[in-house]
Amino acid sequence: SLFNKRTNLIGIIVPQTSNPFFGELTFHIESICASLHYKVLLCNSLNRVDKEKSYWEMLMRNQVDGVIAVTYNRGLVNAHEKPLPIVTIDHYLSPTIPVVSSDNYAGGVQATELLIAKGCQHILHINGPLKLETPANLRRKGYETVMQEHGRTAITYEIANALNRGEQQKVIAQLFREHPQVDGIFASDDLIAATLIAEAQKYGKHIPKDLKVIGYDGTETCQTLLPSLTTIRQPIELIAQKAVEVLLKEIEGDYEQEEMDICLPVQLIEGTTT
Ligand code: RIB
Repeated sequence: SLFNKRTNLIGIIVPQTSNPFFGELTFHIESICASLHYKVLLCNSLNRVDKEKSYWEMLMRNQVDGVIAVTYNRGLVNAHEKPLPIVTIDHYLSPTIPVVSSDNYAGGVQATELLIAKGCQHILHINGPLKLETPANLRRKGYETVMQEHGRTAITYEIANALNRGEQQKVIAQLFREHPQVDGIFASDDLIAATLIAEAQKYGKHIPKDLKVIGYDGTETCQTLLPSLTTIRQPIELIAQKAVEVLLKEIEGDYEQEEMDICLPVQLIEGTTT
């Protein structure tokens, strides 16, 4: 009937596909959708509320069957009272919206424990944006908990946009200036870890002898360009698969309560930067 007309179109809202994490995530979502005869409409929000809002309206006008969103913007959904099936990745938005993520807290714990096991005395963390229940929040909590358990002082710096090299370099310079004795850094993202590795020699730090670095995400792109990087790998393809699965069930109106919050395991990949 007119009322359940399907378009077989799925909307995807991510901050920026030029970030390898979102690029690979989107690649997998699109591939899985294509294999199920769904087309996708891709929206890069740059994490901006105005862009998310206008993309959201564009998706509605195109009568998408559902949306997979990585958004920090709670208003996006509240304002529209969830007019269609939606699944979020990474960020919890509301009790009625299923979320798929990986275990960011455990990742933070594993990364910090590794640096401690490797003998680092002065371990710092560079976190991502801390708005709402972001993955950066949980990774940082993991770091702080382990530091506290070992009687160490937790010290954090923030880089809100991992693609902005200028911002990264500024924060890294400040970090080395304020903590010249730093010998271990857990970066909340592989891009930040890559910049750190490039910058470290300016500050006379040899990796891993003087400074050990662990990143986060384990994207194919970063592993190819920097195979030596120790990192926490997120199961990106599986996250994509679960998000599509749950969304399609939501579209069919038969998803289960236990699928409201899917948290997948992460994996430590040990390279030579630690
Ligand atoms: O910049 C990419 C990061 O942002 C990933 O770790 C992803 O989980 C998101 O939070």
